[in-house]
Amino acid sequence: MLGFGERLLLSLALIAAHAVATVFEGPTDILNNIYDIIVVGGGAGGAVMASRLSEDPGTRVLLIEAGSGDFLNLNISIPARAESLVRSAFDWNFTTTPQEGLNNRQILYPRGFVLGGSTAINIMAYCRGTVDDYDRWARVTGDEGWSWKSLSPYILKVDRMTAPVDHHNTSGQFDPTLHDDGLVPISVEGFPLGTDSRVIETTQDLPDQFPFNLDYNSGDTIGFGWIQSTIQHGRRVSAATSYLAVALDRTNLDVVVNTRVTKVFPVGREQGKPVFRGVQMAQAAEGPFYTLTASKEVILSAGSTNTPHILLLSGIGDSQYLSTLGIETIVDLPSVGQSLHDHPFLANTWTVNSNNTVDDLNRNATLAAEALSLWQANGSGPYSLGGSTQFGWLRIPEAETFFQGLGVDDPNAGPTSAHFEHIPTNGFISTTEALPAEGHFFAISVGVVSPTARGNISLHSADPFDAPLINPALLGNAVDLAIMREGVKAARAFVKAPAWSDYLISEFGDFANATTDAALDAYIRNNADTFDHPVGSVAMGKDGSAALTPDLKVRGTVGLRVVDASAFPFIPSGHTQGPTYILAERAAHLVRADLGIWDGLLGG
Ligand SMILES: Cc1cc2nc3c(=O)[nH]c(=O)nc-3n(C[C@H](O)[C@H](O)[C@H](O)COP(=O)(O)OP(=O)(O)OC[C@H]3O[C@@H](n4cnc5c(N)ncnc54)[C@H](O)[C@@H]3O)c2cc1C
Ligand SMILES: *[C@@H]1O[C@H](CO)[C@@H](O)[C@H](O)[C@H]1NC(C)=O
Ligand SMILES: *[C@@H]1O[C@H](CO)[C@@H](O)[C@H](O)[C@H]1NC(C)=O
Ligand SMILES: *[C@@H]1O[C@H](CO)[C@@H](O)[C@H](O)[C@H]1NC(C)=O
Ligand SMILES: *[C@@H]1O[C@H](CO)[C@@H](O)[C@H](O)[C@H]1NC(C)=O
Ligand SMILES: *[C@@H]1O[C@H](CO)[C@@H](O)[C@H](O)[C@H]1NC(C)=O
Ligand SMILES: *[C@@H]1O[C@H](CO)[C@@H](O)[C@H](O)[C@H]1NC(C)=O
Ligand SMILES: *[C@@H]1O[C@H](CO)[C@@H](O)[C@H](O)[C@H]1NC(C)=O
Ligand SMILES: *[C@@H]1O[C@H](CO)[C@@H](O)[C@H](O)[C@H]1NC(C)=O
Repeated sequence: MLGFGERLLLSLALIAAHAVATVFEGPTDILNNIYDIIVVGGGAGGAVMASRLSEDPGTRVLLIEAGSGDFLNLNISIPARAESLVRSAFDWNFTTTPQEGLNNRQILYPRGFVLGGSTAINIMAYCRGTVDDYDRWARVTGDEGWSWKSLSPYILKVDRMTAPVDHHNTSGQFDPTLHDDGLVPISVEGFPLGTDSRVIETTQDLPDQFPFNLDYNSGDTIGFGWIQSTIQHGRRVSAATSYLAVALDRTNLDVVVNTRVTKVFPVGREQGKPVFRGVQMAQAAEGPFYTLTASKEVILSAGSTNTPHILLLSGIGDSQYLSTLGIETIVDLPSVGQSLHDHPFLANTWTVNSNNTVDDLNRNATLAAEALSLWQANGSGPYSLGGSTQFGWLRIPEAETFFQGLGVDDPNAGPTSAHFEHIPTNGFISTTEALPAEGHFFAISVGVVSPTARGNISLHSADPFDAPLINPALLGNAVDLAIMREGVKAARAFVKAPAWSDYLISEFGDFANATTDAALDAYIRNNADTFDHPVGSVAMGKDGSAALTPDLKVRGTVGLRVVDASAFPFIPSGHTQGPTYILAERAAHLVRADLGIWDGLLGG
């Protein structure tokens, strides 16, 4: 048992019910404790595991997080400050390897470094994924438990629809019957954009190409509708403010921050396999290094870049490759670190005939100060805005013919899944250029949501404090480039609707010059970036070569599971925090079933 004197008590002015948290600032306070479960990483996957598994008072859980416990930091809480979190104290500050598909540019690859993980620095769009996305998971794992229908109880356990901060009438903006009483409050955006009505008008003007969709979280995303965001009362909701906040006062849960897991190690053998219940950790490259052993399971939730990093450091990976780094192989599992994939992103910008955009807010300190004081007063105003208010999920027309022409099968999961995504925003967006000093803008960001290229995670060195090599293979083949090209053409078609005729002036920058397919491709390769949705680097599958079994156990080991976005065999055609929460909800059930703990949910 822990004495209160050994605990660091942080008073957290949470809007949610819980006001006191027990968070240890380093590992020395916990080394003599006994834990059944050790969870590595406090992001979307890890927070769900720590929270759900500690619901049983007899299960002792430790959550280890490399970043800090400062998840209520002002810049994290203000939705509109999300961009300030990239290259901040809350970012791992990764950069990709040169991306061939991006003309060999190396781009920033943000990952959350704080309790809440990437949910504490993301753009907050909440997507569940589609019927076809999950049914494909069920097919490739041979486990019907991953189908949309089987996952439905878990899907409903995650989100809870709340009123937007401006309390506007949300009738016609989502379907309330699809949402239940989950742990993650979400809302449609609580500050209107000047272009909202034009987007809706476009769905009426061009319904065949751009149909309206009342609620993209129904399992069928296709069409345009209102974004649901992990925002409540105008403040960011992260895995820390939701799943962890409700668990922090439990005496059977400890959380330690500022502590990096450097490897997992075997403590014996069972069923002829190494039992990976040992965890090594440190606060600095020069040590000291500490170890702890879980009595039941170690769960890796360090995310798609770091979970494979930890596994490779632990000697779980391709033996030939590991030997080149001087790492002794314990489990020869060549798929660890392979098949990394992500959604390519590209912002396309127009100049507009209006000053009712968000641009002035981003360059006028007086307006920014006004927005800040309004937000501080009651959470309202433009600072309550996440990425945007609306988005669209679209399929390439005549997809079969289109992909036949490229010599491949349609890469997407099925008719409820999009090939590409559109996010309209009434302001300047670019990943390659700064906001111009003058002018007002409109942008449509395009994402390739059924990418086919696959990259990998590998090691720069055997030093655990060295960043891994990250190759998400963005636009890594002709198919993904062709989907992006269609997405940009569709963005141009979107603004041909009458709703935009008195509003847009002209395409801005390189976009204006991208008038032929060849010029378009050059523009795409010069300007595309990441949607920050890496997945698949430690994927589950029924095949013996897959890194994980369908119940998320690392193949060839006992006592070791992976519960985060790295486990996805295919990227969902939606943003990835929702699918990570959903995967983790089922994972918590699978672990509880193995430990013999009843949790009220039937089936696998
Ligand atoms: C800038 C950005 C924008 C995004 N926008 C959206 C969006 O709008 N909508 C959406 O759905 N998704 C978005 N995402 C993606 C989404 O946040 C992730 O898919 C999701 O958080 C993945 O969950 P995870 O558990 O796999 O990893 P994470 O949430 O990243 O959590 C991993 C955790 O493990 C910790 N960790 C890593 N290594 C170690 C170690 N060695 N020891 C201890 N702890 C460790 C990390 O610090 C982190 O806290 C965005 C992501 C980013 C970065
Ligand atoms: C918020 O981010 C800005 C930079 O965008 C920085 O100047 C400021 O110090 C940050 N505030 C906090 C509380 O971290
Ligand atoms: C990332 O960079 C920022 C800004 O330079 C720095 O403050 C922060 O400590 C870095 N993060 C890590 C994990 O090193
Ligand atoms: C927030 O405060 C502002 C300024 O006092 C006010 O105009 C607005 O109605 C308030 N909004 C809410 C949701 O309380
Ligand atoms: C909200 O709008 C709908 C549809 O326009 C209308 O039927 C309903 O009465 C409105 N609700 C409120 C509380 O005003
Ligand atoms: C914004 O535009 C309106 C109408 O076009 C104009 O009256 C007003 O002065 C403009 N405001 C600014 C700050 O430019
Ligand atoms: C910034 O906004 C304030 C408040 O609307 C306005 O008075 C001021 O002129 C603006 N400054 C510039 C440089 O546009
Ligand atoms: C990762 O991918 C790159 C680029 O395809 C390749 O050169 C490299 O060998 C791969 N590394 C591993 C460890 O698979
Ligand atoms: C577009 O092309 C023209 C002619 O080649 C060139 O002069 C101009 O600088 C280009 N504009 C941009 C923004 O690249």
